Amino acid sequence: MRDPASGRSCCAAKDAAAMRDHAKARIQALGLAGPGGVRVNQAGCLDRCEEGPCVVVYPDGVWYTYVDRADVDEIVDQHLVAGCIVERLRI
Ligand code: FES
Repeated sequence: MRDPASGRSCCAAKDAAAMRDHAKARIQALGLAGPGGVRVNQAGCLDRCEEGPCVVVYPDGVWYTYVDRADVDEIVDQHLVAGCIVERLRI
């Protein structure tokens, strides 16, 4: 986690690891993981700290932020399952 004295925001300070774990578990529960499926992985700083916490969906190149688990669920359900971009969370 970035030193708060740096004056710059950090995804890690916004519960990003727990949200990643939640997304990963949801993907697995929905049967979307595995070869050719969805992979949820951790990245280092994506250099959009002030807009974060950040999620980027590839290969679509769509960037999102979120506040809570319901937002993460919406990204999974709407983008990854239904193929619809969640405009309200887009950055
Ligand atoms: S720490 Fe998340 S974008 Fe920089």
